[in-house]
Amino acid sequence: MSAKVSFTAMEHASREDYDLVFEHERQEMQGQAARIIHWLKTMDGDSPYQISRLDHCLQTATRAQRDGADDETVVCALLHDIGDAIAPANHSQVAAAMLRPYISDKNYWVLLHHGLFQGYYWMHYYDQDRNARDELRNHPYYQDCVDFCANWDQTSFDPHYDTLPLDHFIPLVEALYAGTPKPCV
Ligand SMILES: [Fe+2]
Ligand SMILES: [Fe+2]
Repeated sequence: MSAKVSFTAMEHASREDYDLVFEHERQEMQGQAARIIHWLKTMDGDSPYQISRLDHCLQTATRAQRDGADDETVVCALLHDIGDAIAPANHSQVAAAMLRPYISDKNYWVLLHHGLFQGYYWMHYYDQDRNARDELRNHPYYQDCVDFCANWDQTSFDPHYDTLPLDHFIPLVEALYAGTPKPCV
């Protein structure tokens, strides 16, 4: 059994208690990449698309890499829809929050808003404004998000595309999560 803290309420904890807790958290973070990859694999199932949700993620990342995107951006492309696994109502925010400590402000912003920007391709069929994203058009990363969707996300439902396998991307995920996380509170 692992060592235990002395307290039952945080207000009674000591520095030694928190040292113990934070060391445990540090060790847990070493398994984060493996847990995320496991989570991604759960998206490999039936879908109404011609490919699985996992293959959509892989294809998005493949296109990003072939377009010369840096490794961080490729991982963001790989994980951009991972929020669908537990939070389909706000999957963009989940992916953005999960990656935020390890990525640039630009990639965070693109992940956070990609769902809205993808709406350009479907909202008009449901009497919604497909240009709703244009409320953000003066933001410095607006065009990056338009391009992410146009070139990588909305195109990546093709069963005939030469998509790279998950094993190809795992080292990139591991390298990203091996970095020191930025505080995000
Ligand atoms: Fe998405
Ligand atoms: Fe997507």
